[in-house]
Amino acid sequence: MSASPFIIIAIDGGAASGKSSSSRILADKFNLLHVDTGSFYRHLTAELLARKVPHTDLPALKAALAALQLTTRLNGRSAQMLVDGRPAGDEIRDQRVNEHVSHYAAIPEVRHALLGYQRGQVAVGRQHGFRGVVMEGRDIGSVIFPDADFRFFLHADPVERAKRREKEGRQDSIAERDRLDSSRKTSPLTCPAGATDIDSTFLSLEQVVEKMAALIAPKLG
Ligand code: DC
Repeated sequence: MSASPFIIIAIDGGAASGKSSSSRILADKFNLLHVDTGSFYRHLTAELLARKVPHTDLPALKAALAALQLTTRLNGRSAQMLVDGRPAGDEIRDQRVNEHVSHYAAIPEVRHALLGYQRGQVAVGRQHGFRGVVMEGRDIGSVIFPDADFRFFLHADPVERAKRREKEGRQDSIAERDRLDSSRKTSPLTCPAGATDIDSTFLSLEQVVEKMAALIAPKLG
């Protein structure tokens, strides 16, 4: 009998496009490690803001990044990044981080600091007996795992996305973050060739997950 394969699923898309909700459900459904790379960029941003390292000061940024120790602990099925042993606090979802995160994320040195760490989550997933990894972000299918077993790209009408954030009771700079994330030079937000493009504007979360699960299930047997 052949062992079931370890699979990698990449889910990319703009702010509030439904990546987090759908990847969490897939993680539960198929016993996958859920990796929210946006939370990693948010955590680094909060850390650099707390240390008063502006994104415009490259030498200070490089020195701060070189000194940070990134490790992982599990929070249920999700990979939680620890910076110097500390988990992220609730402030990573605050408006201050929303306003700054895309500026830090546009800097190649910041992206480089997270590159190996993100790829290393596959080893974490294997070590803990998961059947695979579902990783969400902006450049997962294009840069982090271009050879992933499944690559999805979610998009939705900006008005609908703003409504989703409102329902969550959160403020966000959706349009501005999308503009910055899509226009940066390094690893911009883009639907990579060959990825499955899903417009979730008129779909429920369940319908989005159903579309993805229908493709994934046969591979896991
Ligand atoms: O997924 P999110 O909205 O929580 O992500 C926060 C920000 O992090 C997003 O505006 C851009 C950045 N990000 C990125 O540049 N690359 C990723 N793979 C994930 C997030």
